[in-house]
Amino acid sequence: MNKPAVSHPLFARFFYLIGPIANKAGGDAHRKELLSGLSGRVIELGAGTGLNFPFYPPTVTEVLAIEPEPFMRKKAIDSARVASVDVKVVDGVDSNLPAENCEYDAAVVSLVLCSVSDPGIALKEIRRVLRVGGELRFYEHIVAEEPRLARLQRRVDILWPYLGGGCHTSRDTVSAIETAGFIISSARRFKFQPSALAIPVSPHVIGTAIKG
Ligand SMILES: C[S@@+](CC[C@H](N)C(=O)[O-])C[C@H]1O[C@@H](n2cnc3c(N)ncnc32)[C@H](O)[C@@H]1O
Repeated sequence: MNKPAVSHPLFARFFYLIGPIANKAGGDAHRKELLSGLSGRVIELGAGTGLNFPFYPPTVTEVLAIEPEPFMRKKAIDSARVASVDVKVVDGVDSNLPAENCEYDAAVVSLVLCSVSDPGIALKEIRRVLRVGGELRFYEHIVAEEPRLARLQRRVDILWPYLGGGCHTSRDTVSAIETAGFIISSARRFKFQPSALAIPVSPHVIGTAIKG
């Protein structure tokens, strides 16, 4: 059997346990906001255990959910079975999405651009598969605007990826989305800290960017 492109067996199980707790503390509402008003064919990158699936509105006709981590993919497949929209979960990575150019009406990333090796590569590939005028919906934790917290984020970012499945605490994801050529049409920044452990990843953003 081939070695998976992404394998974080311990983190995947930890995330499976804490994901629903974070969702109850506010994540559910964020995911609902993230996906509200979406329609047509959607591609979701790094779908994890499928925590977004219950929140896709009925106007979405199909979701192709990409998940490279084997344990998470298995859980996502279970979640897809009970979703009210058509969700297909497949193996894949950010740098090589299994989709044609301009095929999708929308793309979704949630808590993923912190974890891929190079957000610029992921965003370029997302742009490729989106139609002109298509939407990128994003829900990500990001670098803090306050210098003190940003300093703390940079410090913990040395160790954090080893504990958090490759997650980086201090990425300027909104700038990365703009640099990739998207036009940001909304970006709501807020703090979300379901536990004290989450201080370094508390600054979040939910938004929409358009492929012009
Ligand atoms: C913190 S989890 C978030 C999962 C999910 N998006 C959510 O909102 O609950 C980070 C996800 O990014 C995925 N990921 C990491 N590297 C990736 C890559 N190179 N390509 C695609 N997904 C990747 C992981 O497998 C994992 O599912």
